[in-house]
Formats: sequence, C-alpha cells, structure tokens
Amino acid sequence: MAGNSSAPPAAGRGAPPRPPKRLGPGRAHALTSKPLAPDTWPAFARLVEKHNGIFGGCWCISFHLGPGEGKRTPAEYRAMKETRVREGRAHAALVFDGPTAVGWCQFGPTGELPNIRSRTAYEEGVSDLPDWRITCFFIDRERRGDGIATFALREALGEIARLGGGTVEAYPEDVAGRKVSRSFLCSGTLGMFEKAGFVRSRKIAMHRWVVARRIRPNRPKRAEPSGTAG
Ligand SMILES: CC(C)(COP(=O)(O)OP(=O)(O)OC[C@H]1O[C@@H](n2cnc3c(N)ncnc32)[C@H](O)[C@@H]1OP(=O)(O)O)[C@@H](O)C(=O)NCCC(=O)NCCS
Repeated sequence: MAGNSSAPPAAGRGAPPRPPKRLGPGRAHALTSKPLAPDTWPAFARLVEKHNGIFGGCWCISFHLGPGEGKRTPAEYRAMKETRVREGRAHAALVFDGPTAVGWCQFGPTGELPNIRSRTAYEEGVSDLPDWRITCFFIDRERRGDGIATFALREALGEIARLGGGTVEAYPEDVAGRKVSRSFLCSGTLGMFEKAGFVRSRKIAMHRWVVARRIRPNRPKRAEPSGTAG
C-alpha cells in the first residue's frame, strides 16, 4: 500500500487547478498508507502513546482477545500487540502524513479478531463466518473530520485484495439523526461502509449493523506477450 496517495488527480491542460478535497488544518502532505508490520511498529506505537495508550492503555488489542486474555495492564497489552505484529497476527492499514502515523483501520482474518462488539447477538444469527473482519478505526485526535478514516478504509480494502480478497464484514454504527461522540465510533459509521460498497445484512444492536462485501483478489498484472502488435 505504500505510496498510495489521497492527492487529487492532476488537472488537465488549461483547466483551473482544483483545490484538494477536504484539506484539513495542518495537513501538510498527501496521505499514504503502509501495513502495520515490524517496520511500522515504532510509528504505530508513537501514535498510541500520544493518546495515552488509547482508552487508558488498550493498545487496540481487545478485538484480538480470546477467553482468559483480558484484564491485563497497559504494558502487558502493549507487549501482546507488539508480539502479534512481529508474528504477523495483527493487521491494519496505517495512515501516514509524511513520516508520522495519523490513524489506522484494523482488519484481519476472522479468527484473528474474534472479540467483536455485540458478539452474543452476532453469534445468535450467524450462518457463515466471513473471511475478513474490519473492527476498529483510530485517528489522531488533532486530525479528525478530515477524511482520514475514509482513506484508511479504502487502504485496508486494498490490502485485503492484495492478501487474496474474500468476504469482508464490519460492524459500524448508524449515526443517522443523532449526535454520537467520536469515541463511540471506533467501528466506523454505516455511511462510510455503504459508500465503500458494503451492504447491510442485519442489526446486532440498537444502532449497530453487520455490513458485508466481497473483495476480489488483486493479482499482479501479467505482462502482455511481445510481438502481438501489427
Ligand atoms: C470515528 C473516527 C474514526 C472518524 O475518523 P475521521 O477521520 O474523523 O472520519 P472521516 O473524516 O473519514 O469521516 C467518516 C464519516 O464519519 C462521519 N463522522 C465522523 N465523526 C462523526 C460523529 N461524531 N458523528 C457522526 N458522524 C461522524 C463523517 O461525517 C463521515 O461521514 P460521511 O462519509 O458521510 O461524510 C475518529 O473520530 C476516531 O478515531 N474516533 C475515536 C475512535 C476510537 O476511540 N478508536 C479506538 C478504539 S479501540
């Protein structure tokens, strides 16, 4: 995903320059994204530490947790997350503005993210489990409202395609007609996912939906056979 840019396409010859879309305060660079991996761990850790560990020290671990893995200290959660990243058992599209990580969209194979919100209601109505889940967004508090989560979602879907594609589920909040604190929107909004091609399947809480879409694998393009022209 590295090098993907949110910069607008160049204007055609003679056309007036188009202003960048949703340019927010302090946005000095085009956004890029990279997978969360050992080489991007330090940037991820700086972003988490800037926000006091996220919710006082969860380190974006809760969706990974299985039975008996909860109730740890922030230092233990940090170590658990770092181990997962080093072992390739934690995925995210990590968004960068220049060298600085400014947010992420967490995703992963379903088995890697068992602990979704409204899990009991989800499991009561489940038939087939998806190949992938998208469970969590986090954007630097100084950069919210600037389209970064939307960009992170697009990049996560690109990464899922690169990793082979398949069915993808998410569990966003329907915010229509009500005011919702950003802290409660870590699973994203229904609108974000519908704009990204997801379709609602069922409700699992008063305002939470299961949404799904299929992502095709992004296979590397084969070179055209030579000598076919003319
Ligand atoms: C929720 C959050 C991810 C949104 O990130 P963002 O970069 O500001 O989002 P975007 O600018 O891409 O906006 C995405 C959509 O969400 C909507 N949105 C964002 N905040 C909203 C709010 N408080 N209420 C209603 N809608 C909201 C936007 O209007 C936009 O909708 P649109 O596509 O219809 O225009 C961000 O506020 C955040 O990180 N919150 C904290 C989440 C958290 O604590 N995560 C850790 C959990 S472990």
